[in-house]
Amino acid sequence: MKVTVVGAGAVGASCAEYIAMKNFASEVVLLDIKEGYAEGKAMDLMQTASLMGFDTKITGSTNDYSKTANSDVVVITSGIPRKPGMTREELIGINAGIVKTVATNLLEHSPNTIFIVVSNPMDTMTYLVHKATGLPKNRIIGMGGALDSARFKYRLAEALGAPISDVDGMVIGGHSDVGMVPLIGHATRNSIKVSEFLSEEQMSWVVEETKVGGATLTKLLGTSAWYAPGAAVSSMVQAIACDQKKMFPCSTMLDGEYGLSDICIGAPVILGKDGIEKIVEIELSDAEKAKMAESAIGVRNTNALL
Ligand SMILES: NC(=O)c1ccc[n+]([C@@H]2O[C@H](COP(=O)([O-])OP(=O)(O)OC[C@H]3O[C@@H](n4cnc5c(N)ncnc54)[C@H](O)[C@@H]3O)[C@@H](O)[C@H]2O)c1
Repeated sequence: MKVTVVGAGAVGASCAEYIAMKNFASEVVLLDIKEGYAEGKAMDLMQTASLMGFDTKITGSTNDYSKTANSDVVVITSGIPRKPGMTREELIGINAGIVKTVATNLLEHSPNTIFIVVSNPMDTMTYLVHKATGLPKNRIIGMGGALDSARFKYRLAEALGAPISDVDGMVIGGHSDVGMVPLIGHATRNSIKVSEFLSEEQMSWVVEETKVGGATLTKLLGTSAWYAPGAAVSSMVQAIACDQKKMFPCSTMLDGEYGLSDICIGAPVILGKDGIEKIVEIELSDAEKAKMAESAIGVRNTNALL
């Protein structure tokens, strides 16, 4: 299992670190455009191997795509992150050009690879990779819902006063502050709906804090977060590498599911060795359907900027 991570910045390096720590990949290649940067991060990470007990080989490359040849999975994190007060959509001008070039270069050297797109605005960047590569939809996956769901569970646990391992929940829809659809009506604590334990006011607090989860961190850090994004990507790579058939909400090209077509947006999918092996359609309430439809309008408006 060879994995390439393009962009050796905050998210890319964190993603490489978690993949290595989980010890399921034989090789991780970090690639960045900044001279020596990916090589430096790779060397630093390799010097943790004897301390952390992993055998994954991490190498770095300055924009030499021949080093990425025959990757099973490629992760695109290259591009600029948002600063406090910015929306993810504002990044499109710079990131669209970067993502398109990077995707084309990667495919040239790894024609059978599976793409995981992380750069923002992520749903639109995932759509762009579809249009730029023409690959089948199972091989292009956008990472947003896995992270947003982890943030949702963090807030649910906080409101419930419960350990995170007690809670389950999922966020679908667009990966934006307004577009996320945290499925609070489906969230549970040990299989019991959270509405049994939380008031309406507490549940709307959880939903609103989840939606601005990224913005809250960007304000605190001065740039966007990296630990949870890196961990979310590593779990998705592991599901593919180990053919786990695990369910994650991911940005995926819809073809009639949830009443939507020709759009990449967050929906529950099964991840295994072929990438997206199934899109799971769950029954949504009328309010959830309306939120999903509204979220799709937002994603389409950003797609139109391409
Ligand atoms: N989808 C998500 O849930 C999610 C979560 C967090 C961050 N992000 C996004 O991920 C992206 C990366 O965030 P970050 O915090 O790691 O940023 P960062 O600035 O720390 O790292 C980005 C890296 O990309 C590199 N880069 C730029 N152009 C390149 C090119 N053409 N080829 C190769 N490398 C190139 C830069 O040199 C830099 O090292 C941002 O767009 C951010 O908004 C998405």
